Amino acid sequence: MSFTLLDNALLKCDLSTLRDKRTPNTIFRATLERISEVMAVEICRSFELETFDYETPLEATTGYQFKESFLIAPVLRAGLGLQNGFLKFLPNATVSHIGISRDHQTHAPHFYYSNIPAHIESLHCLVLDPMLATGGSATMATSLLKEKGAKKLSLVSVVVAPEGVKYFSEQHPDVHIFAAALDRELNANKYILPGLGDAGDRIFGT
Ligand code: PRP
Ligand code: URA
Repeated sequence: MSFTLLDNALLKCDLSTLRDKRTPNTIFRATLERISEVMAVEICRSFELETFDYETPLEATTGYQFKESFLIAPVLRAGLGLQNGFLKFLPNATVSHIGISRDHQTHAPHFYYSNIPAHIESLHCLVLDPMLATGGSATMATSLLKEKGAKKLSLVSVVVAPEGVKYFSEQHPDVHIFAAALDRELNANKYILPGLGDAGDRIFGT
């Protein structure tokens, strides 16, 4: 299993705000955006750099830049809550939205939209979805990117359930998962416990 639980005090504090049922949509949205920024910074620590030569006003020196180019793939709708933080620190990333929703009865993922460009083979694709419950949605989004040519992918999720991590890792053992919290379990309705409820509804007030 390829899994990193990000350890950062800001994430722990902000996650408590997200989990609190009293948190209104406006604060939920703003807090999730802060979380996406902190996660982006933490995750960028693991990305390889390359050097390049340039000149300061005084002399020649060596600079650093990311070795890879990136594609971020927010899974609609809730993945939109992570988009801005990643774009803030990876402003040149290509953005491909993938529309997937869970069936309320079966909890199976249902695909409805994507806009993935050609020639993504060389891009490091970051699938963004705040919740990994059964793992069905993230698995489908990742499969879609692979079908379109993606060779290197990572999954970025805020709250994950053990069931989802297990299922996703079985389907995509080559894809690293970054998360801010590993929760206890799923309930009978396949919601994460203790979790934060329905992320999409809490972001958009539906
Ligand atoms: C939520 C969430 C994930 C999915 C996780 O989306 O944003 O995409 O559920 O569950 P899974 O791991 O069991 O697939 P939802 O289907 O509620 O759609 P929404 O974001 O449009 O509300
Ligand atoms: N999707 C959510 O938004 N929350 C859960 O707990 C499970 C799936």
